[in-house]
Amino acid sequence: MHSRSSTDRYASSAEQFSLTGTKDSPLVPVNGNEPTSVDACTSAARSSDWTVLPWARGPLSAAVISALQRPPGTFGPAPPISGIDALSDDDFALALYLCYEVHYRTVTDAGWEWDPGLLTFRAELERAFVERLRDEVVDPRSRFPYEVISALDELIRAAPGPSLSRHLLESGTLEQLREFCMHRSAYQLKEADPHTFGIPRLTGEAKAAMVEIQYEEYGSGVASAMHSHLFGETMDALGLDSSYGSYVEVLPGVTLATVNLVSMFALHRRWRAALVGHLAVFEMTSVEPMARYSSALARFGIGPEGRRFYDVHVTADERHAAIARDRMVAGLIRAEPELSADLLFGAAAVLMLEQRFASHLLDAWANSRSSLVSRDQRAR
Ligand SMILES: [Fe+2]
Ligand SMILES: [Fe+2]
Repeated sequence: MHSRSSTDRYASSAEQFSLTGTKDSPLVPVNGNEPTSVDACTSAARSSDWTVLPWARGPLSAAVISALQRPPGTFGPAPPISGIDALSDDDFALALYLCYEVHYRTVTDAGWEWDPGLLTFRAELERAFVERLRDEVVDPRSRFPYEVISALDELIRAAPGPSLSRHLLESGTLEQLREFCMHRSAYQLKEADPHTFGIPRLTGEAKAAMVEIQYEEYGSGVASAMHSHLFGETMDALGLDSSYGSYVEVLPGVTLATVNLVSMFALHRRWRAALVGHLAVFEMTSVEPMARYSSALARFGIGPEGRRFYDVHVTADERHAAIARDRMVAGLIRAEPELSADLLFGAAAVLMLEQRFASHLLDAWANSRSSLVSRDQRAR
């Protein structure tokens, strides 16, 4: 079912991505067994649904990808989850990412969204993921045993780690900038959607504040101003493929884990406070990096259209940070103070995974390597 045959044009290495920055053919077409032609792929650009499935990276992702090409109800026995790091393993991360994607977009048969077999497997993946998150995230209550807003401020202030935006501004190459956008496309082509799942799970001031933030994330009623759309324009300006899911298969586990985190928080009412903590960190840490990314793009001659995604955030997120901190977080904790630890866990978890993500990219670049998944890694 996953024959490479005529799709082998895409048997490109990460180096090819680095050299061309573009994708020349799909891998596993979503509908039917005939590989999609290059022309069809081009015409499908900017599709908001999945047009191709990625190649598997091991038994876990193979189980999901294979199932998605069959009718719902046929998931079958799940492979064991063992001997991997659930925060960085490529196979694990891709499997979980695809389990979540059926809730965001049309992947194949819509019936997979509530398929008991797929949901059972997802739950097993989530158990392993949460266990590793708990290993890495020190209980924020023990580190910051005071009120939540101050603890959140302190978590953000104390977050260690290298700055991707500073590197890209000061010494990054154009290829590194393109790689960075390929990584971010896994989230930013659906920007705002995960957090929106939180709206019905909140009440009162926290709900109203989240809606106000999300309204602007969705372009304040103007489709072409939606942040996800603006990110597509940045990708276009960089000569990248802005169609949905286009680079997922070359993204490492550390990248997909950052998106899996927010999807897990979004899709479980039980994690609603962690979702609020996650969004608060996003909004409260955005302004300076976004300004640097815009300047980095300008350094390579990218015009205002291609920089708009970042420029918009510099303005919007100054407001969003205040709304998130002083109304959304404060409102939730006033209404449900017992959720304080979950909120800080969500905030600490995103800071930790973002730090691992940044380190991965900077380490690869410091060693003159691509930060994307190579062909050998994909074909293991
Ligand atoms: Fe945004
Ligand atoms: Fe924002």
